Amino acid sequence: MSQYLSSLFSLAGKTALIAGGAGAIGSAISEAFAKAGARVIVHDLSNERLAGLQARFEAENLLFDGIQVDLDSAVACNNLVEKALQVTGRIDILVNLQGINRRKPIVDVTQDDFDIITSVNFRSVYFLSRAVQPVMKAQGGGKILHFSSLSANISFDTISVYAATKAAVTSLTRSMAHEWAGDNIQVNAIEPGFVQTEFTRPLWDDEYRSRWFADYIPAGRLAVPEDLITTSLSLVAPASCYITGRSVVVDGGVLSGDSWVEKQD
Ligand SMILES: NC(=O)c1ccc[n+]([C@@H]2O[C@H](COP(=O)([O-])OP(=O)(O)OC[C@H]3O[C@@H](n4cnc5c(N)ncnc54)[C@H](O)[C@@H]3O)[C@@H](O)[C@H]2O)c1
Repeated sequence: MSQYLSSLFSLAGKTALIAGGAGAIGSAISEAFAKAGARVIVHDLSNERLAGLQARFEAENLLFDGIQVDLDSAVACNNLVEKALQVTGRIDILVNLQGINRRKPIVDVTQDDFDIITSVNFRSVYFLSRAVQPVMKAQGGGKILHFSSLSANISFDTISVYAATKAAVTSLTRSMAHEWAGDNIQVNAIEPGFVQTEFTRPLWDDEYRSRWFADYIPAGRLAVPEDLITTSLSLVAPASCYITGRSVVVDGGVLSGDSWVEKQD
């Protein structure tokens, strides 16, 4: 890469806290950020996933710092930031990838389902970002990247609460961007379409649905976690210092429209 391009996209000297970073998409993003020069602090709920990603980092000679916290309260979010600060004393980039889903028709959703999905997908994003903001402000700026979803724009059966939390994250992206622009903190989101991970296994591990995906997604396939790397990298790199409050859809063309042409087998 030319020196000019690396100055725009390098993360050298930056510390990145990746929440939910040992999940499927998180692992791809964490590794890419480390390869782009960042000191990556990977958070996850699962010690097993953290250990798996640590082995992957060590095989590539990349520095790994893992922190296990259940982001089930505002206090837990503050604790994560305090622990992360013990690594390098700064946080330049925060990525919020923590997320869960419980797929059920609206009439079967319990209060427990509602509370856990909103707590992980929205409340923790809100309070973790809020806990990081004073750190970034004191450092002179930073970048926050939320993982929203295509379902912030269109919904599908059985994901009513999930879709609403992701629409809330997209809205929060605008509010945080606006309130924190004066602190030189850029806040953006990615809205991925269908990514082939364990998270979506119930959707693609089924003959009817896998045929439906091939027809429905203009790109003709689900995304893989690596398809999210370039957008993520560009939204946390120096190159994007004038982009804030935006949500970028990465969906293989789903939102571009539908087809009237009869599909051939
Ligand atoms: N896979 C997709 O198709 C898709 C599409 C759109 C958006 N997304 C979003 O991207 C993000 C990552 O998705 P993924 O497919 O990699 O899923 P994943 O399940 O592999 O990753 C999510 C991570 O969140 C962590 N997590 C769950 N509950 C937590 C809690 N209480 N506290 C802290 N961490 C917790 C999990 O341990 C997991 O590692 C999610 O926010 C998801 O909603 C995924």
